[in-house]
Amino acid sequence: MIVLLEIKDMNAGYGFLNILWNMSLNIDQGEFVALIGPNGAGKSTTLKTIAGALTPSKGDVKFRGEDIAGRECHQNCREGISYISEELNLFTGMTVFENLEMGAYSQKDKSRRTKRLEFVYELFPRLEERTSQFAGTLSGGERKMLAIARGMMSEPTLMLVDEPSLGLAPQVTNEVFESLRVLNSMGVTILLVEQNVTKTLQFTERAYVVEKGRIVLEGQSADLISDEHVRKIYLGA
Ligand SMILES: Nc1ncnc2c1ncn2[C@@H]1O[C@H](COP(=O)(O)OP(=O)(O)O)[C@@H](O)[C@H]1O
Ligand SMILES: [Mg+2]
Repeated sequence: MIVLLEIKDMNAGYGFLNILWNMSLNIDQGEFVALIGPNGAGKSTTLKTIAGALTPSKGDVKFRGEDIAGRECHQNCREGISYISEELNLFTGMTVFENLEMGAYSQKDKSRRTKRLEFVYELFPRLEERTSQFAGTLSGGERKMLAIARGMMSEPTLMLVDEPSLGLAPQVTNEVFESLRVLNSMGVTILLVEQNVTKTLQFTERAYVVEKGRIVLEGQSADLISDEHVRKIYLGA
């Protein structure tokens, strides 16, 4: 197994406010891993730090064995890390097609961009039907799909996806999760942040539980479903 992402004893936060404490986390190439935990636990902060939007104050962040702590987002993106934030950051006044083109801005080879677009449209036929629609007029679920699709345009090795199910109806949530599963089966490694614990543990292979900025539990997702702490705190059992 090739270790793709290796985080060791990492602290991170906002200015003098420390949020993440001694966080350690590993992801092998090809894995589908979840980071679950309550609101405010530090899940988004973790993704932001890996993506390069925040610089850790302590510890290691290695991607393919290379230290990337504090490296800029756009460079991480070029090197294969795609970050799909909660805010999605779509260009609402631009079309679906234009948003997807923006996702491949670092790819100078036009034929490769076109191929990639075809691939993404195959994966999300609904986006192809709406290719000239403004992103701002899409439904919530379609927006999530567009953000994921745009994140795919740069041909990432690792995708960091923050709460894709937030605000979506169960049916649409399933579609979004299903699309992540397809991406993973095609070889994309995924770190998924979610509050929808039941669904997330069903879809992923392995999970970390973060509480108050610390990893408190980790294991196979199938085992965590029956873990006492997880059942009590997250599954209301
Ligand atoms: N930009 C920011 N500046 C200061 N504190 C922040 C900022 N963003 C988040 N926080 C704080 O960091 C903590 C963890 O937040 P976050 O990582 O967003 O949690 P989660 O994604 O698990 O809900 C919270 O206490 C939150 O208030
Ligand atoms: Mg969050």
